[in-house]
Formats: sequence, C-alpha cells, structure tokens
Amino acid sequence: MQQAGEGSRIPQRPIFPDVTVLLGDPRLADHSKREGAFHEEDLATRDAMKAAFASLDGYAFRYLDDHTTILEDLRAEPPQFVVNFCDTGFGNDPVRELNLPAYLEMLNVPYSGAPPAAMVLCWDKAVVRGMAAQLGIAVPDEVYIRPGDDVAARLPDRYPAFVKPSCADGSVGITVDAVVHDHAQAVARVKRVQAELPGRAVLVQEFLAGAEYGVGVIGNPGPGFTILPPLEVDYDGLDPALPRLLGFESKALPDSPYWTDVRFREARIDRAARAAIEAAAAAMFERLGLSDYGRFDFRTSADGVIKLMEVNPNPAWANDGKLAFMAGFAGIAYRDMLRMILEAAQSRTAAERGTAQG
Ligand SMILES: Nc1ncnc2c1ncn2[C@@H]1O[C@H](COP(=O)(O)OP(=O)(O)OP(=O)(O)O)[C@@H](O)[C@H]1O
Ligand SMILES: [Mg+2]
Repeated sequence: MQQAGEGSRIPQRPIFPDVTVLLGDPRLADHSKREGAFHEEDLATRDAMKAAFASLDGYAFRYLDDHTTILEDLRAEPPQFVVNFCDTGFGNDPVRELNLPAYLEMLNVPYSGAPPAAMVLCWDKAVVRGMAAQLGIAVPDEVYIRPGDDVAARLPDRYPAFVKPSCADGSVGITVDAVVHDHAQAVARVKRVQAELPGRAVLVQEFLAGAEYGVGVIGNPGPGFTILPPLEVDYDGLDPALPRLLGFESKALPDSPYWTDVRFREARIDRAARAAIEAAAAAMFERLGLSDYGRFDFRTSADGVIKLMEVNPNPAWANDGKLAFMAGFAGIAYRDMLRMILEAAQSRTAAERGTAQG
C-alpha cells in the first residue's frame, strides 16, 4: 500500500495507446438523473473528462456512447483497449452495468475497472455488508426486508433508522425521507421504496449519526494501491434542521440545498481511525475482486464506530466527483487521476496477458 504521491507523478509509457472510452447514452432516459434525463451539468463533466484525456501524451482516444449501435461498433472494430466509464449501465439501466464488461470479455477486449463478478457483489449492499462483517469490518445493524414480508412485523425498535434499497446506485430510492423516526414512518418509507423499486429488498439500518468518510483507491492488489487522502462530507453549511445525508437531492437536484450547501473536505480523522478505514478498503477491494480503482463509503455510528456503508466499483470519474476531490487533496490534478486509473488498468492487462510493458 502506498500513500498518494509516491510513484503517481511520473507518467508511464502507454502500453495500449489506442483507447476507446465507453460512456452512458445521453439520448436515452436515465433515472439516476433529474427528470430522468441527461442535462448540461452531465455533459459539462463529459467535456472536462475528454479534455483531460486529450492532454495525456501518447494516447489516442475515441468515445462511444450510442447504445443502439455500441455492440455492433465494438464487434465490427474491436478496440485495442477500453476505458469503461459507462457507469449508467448498458441502455442507462444500472442493472445492466455488468453487461458491457461481460461483452468485452467475450470479444477478448481488455478494459479498465471492475469485472462483472465484482459488480454483481457490490450491487447488493446486504451482500457487501455480510462479506465485510466476516472480515471483521464494522457494519451497521440492519434488517433485511424481502418483497412480500410483513413490513410492520420485521421493523427494528430502535429509532432513528435509515431506509434504503439493498440494490441500487446513485441514491435512487434515497431521499431526505430515508431517515425515519418511528415505526409508522418506517412502515410508510419501506412501502414507498418497494413501490418505487418493485421486487427489490429494502434495508432498515441503524442511523449512523456521525461523520461520513470516503476512501478512494487506485491500483491493484499485486503491484499495490495508491490510497488517496480520505474525504469527509462537510455538512456544516447545511441548514441544521435538515437531516445529514447524501441522497438523490445531492446527486441530481442542482436547486436543492443538498447540492449547494454540502461540501467535501479532507477528512479530519485521527491516524488510527484513518489506518483502519484504509485497511478495510484494501481488504474489501481484494475480497470483492475490484480492479484498478474503487471508492468505499463509511459513516460513524452514534457511539463513535466508523462503519462501512457501501463499496463502489468504478466510482464516479467526474471532475466534481468524490474521487477527484480526494486526488486534489493529494495534489493530483484531475488529468493525472485519470492517467493513474488508465495506467493501473493497462499494467494489470499487460501482466494478465504476459505482454511486455512499454
Ligand atoms: N445507515 C445509514 N445511516 C445514516 N446515513 C446513511 C446510512 N446509509 C446511507 N446513508 C446516507 O445515504 C447516502 C447514500 O447511501 P449509500 O452510499 O448507501 O448509497 P448510494 O446511493 O449507492 O451512494 P453512491 O451515490 O455513493 O453510490 C450516504 O452517503 C449517507 O449520507
Ligand atoms: Mg455512497
């Protein structure tokens, strides 16, 4: 494990110089975005990403985002190397995020980021929680409610509690109303999430009332990780009457106070606690079979224990995303963060394929 900075500054010679970047399809609906569609803020982050890639020496980038033709395009002209930044899923359907990497494997095309198996595991937060607990990593208390369960009979008796879908991404199903203060509110919220996401299990968790952290990792278990300085969500600017959470409002609604008043800062965390969350992140990266980069979200319980909330394979690559903030804390520019992800992926591929490194 290395801290950010070491070894991250000097670019390596491109191993696969021709890079095809896969993206979500802005022509199609996307329910993780406001009004279910791409907007100018989404297109601006794409432009910033393209400009950053264009500034890297020795590579040529092309972009594919038309999902009606993407399968034929990839098959007709298999790329030398793919950067899989299609975090919306194939057809902008998050359930099908794993389909593109699975397809690339069938085409024998190397790609950046997590393989399908890791995506399957991380998609289900209850599975991640179980695996983390088995490794001795602290996790929130939780009740798992299956579709068809008698909701009222299954609920915990400790409030406040936090209600969220077990399988979802980008805070779909998580809004301010996720925080519930009594049994009646909890029943209503669980039913609401069930109506929004039919057929999915719902989690009712212990409400983690304390500080919220993110740990960003770039690299791979063999050659080693760069662990970026942990991020802390800064809720100090938020109206104290509002519950502290990063829900759908913070990710998709630019007019919400959660979008305008919540900030990210470098974590104010003591050395031992930082070492513990970094070790938990590294252990889960390996256990879940992530590749090249990942982000691990933690939050502190009322009695001061930092608990793992979820693991994000292929976390948001945007220049205003958490990973870019963490890189910034280490003095790593956005373009260099993208370069580090690309280099980690290309080195891993070269090692897997026995290709001599350039
Ligand atoms: N048990 C909990 N107690 C308190 N807050 C929680 C809890 N679980 C989740 N949250 C809040 O809800 C936010 C979103 O939850 P989580 O990270 O599980 O879902 P997500 O929507 O998949 O996130 P991301 O957008 O990071 O992929 C967290 O960042 C945190 O603010
Ligand atoms: Mg999260």
